[in-house]
Amino acid sequence: MADLQTTFLGLNLKNPIIAASCGLTNNIESIKKLSDNGIGAIVLKSLFEEQILYHAHQKIAENKMDYPEAYDYIKNYSRINEIEQYLLLIQQAKKTTAIPIIASINCISASEWVSFAKEIEQAGADALELNIMTLPTNGKISSSEVEQKMFDIIDKVRSQTKLPLAIKLNNHYTSLSNILTKLDWNKLVQGVVLFNRQYTPDIDIDKMKIVAGNVFSSPTEYTESLRWIAIMSNKVNYDFAATTGIWDGKTVIKQLLAGAKAVQISSVLYKKGHEVIPQIIGEIENWMQSKGYQKISQFRGSMSMQNVESPAAFERIQFMRYFSQIE
Ligand SMILES: Cc1cc2nc3c(=O)[nH]c(=O)nc-3n(C[C@H](O)[C@H](O)[C@H](O)COP(=O)(O)O)c2cc1C
Repeated sequence: MADLQTTFLGLNLKNPIIAASCGLTNNIESIKKLSDNGIGAIVLKSLFEEQILYHAHQKIAENKMDYPEAYDYIKNYSRINEIEQYLLLIQQAKKTTAIPIIASINCISASEWVSFAKEIEQAGADALELNIMTLPTNGKISSSEVEQKMFDIIDKVRSQTKLPLAIKLNNHYTSLSNILTKLDWNKLVQGVVLFNRQYTPDIDIDKMKIVAGNVFSSPTEYTESLRWIAIMSNKVNYDFAATTGIWDGKTVIKQLLAGAKAVQISSVLYKKGHEVIPQIIGEIENWMQSKGYQKISQFRGSMSMQNVESPAAFERIQFMRYFSQIE
């Protein structure tokens, strides 16, 4: 029987399939179901930096007031509750399952919210994932300023917690390899998740309204993370997890061959249900058996850029040859 064990962020996973942060990881029933179906680890639904800040300011305001208005309390109760519920969810998830539970925060600044990382650690999370995503639309802000913000967040969060840290990035960087290399230099993060999938706006031409683009990925969207994990996995010391467009066992195998330690899945769980997890695991086991592999370490990274015969294939971005064959 193939052994699917792996490590990610220094955590032991029984297999490399992680439930990505999404609506299916924000309640204990679904977390239990994911665990019962054999998931290797779970990233909880993200809290937003703004939610944490709102909570902190609310607490300060309440302490200053002798008689806080009942109206304000009722108005704000649900948001305050969200923070407490999040810490409770971490505690419940740890009690309910034996698999690693990774908390997640969507953040854009290194403001006072960072002290919340301590509370996450105290609640019992095994690691923390930071989804640092901004859309720089202000033409006066340079790319290095945007990037520096990310490093400031990491510095500040690291000063608050000893938890293993993962950074979830999108691929909208002029020099992604530079960012990924710098993340290795300061040794503050244990893993990088490539690539986050962002909300995209679309236009409904009948209703003449702005609507949401596709919320769910398609099974062809995995190739950008595959490329970058293949390029970078031998060059840095932290772990990579691949996300976006991973819908089946074959794609998981490809990401492992490129050098990923684990993958994160979301859309396929929404579309096919939690039962897809044992199917994906079965596909990986069958493939390993057919190739004579007993352990993931026997093949992980064997198709990374450093280890393939034609490494330039990972760096090719122009379609010229492909087009000339079609035309
Ligand atoms: C409904 C939904 C909610 C999501 N919420 C979050 C979130 O709160 N935080 C986060 O980092 N990613 C969130 N994501 C992104 C996923 O974690 C994942 O990175 C992305 O969907 C790509 O994986 P997939 O192709 O398997 O869906 C969400 C995705 C979906 C579909």
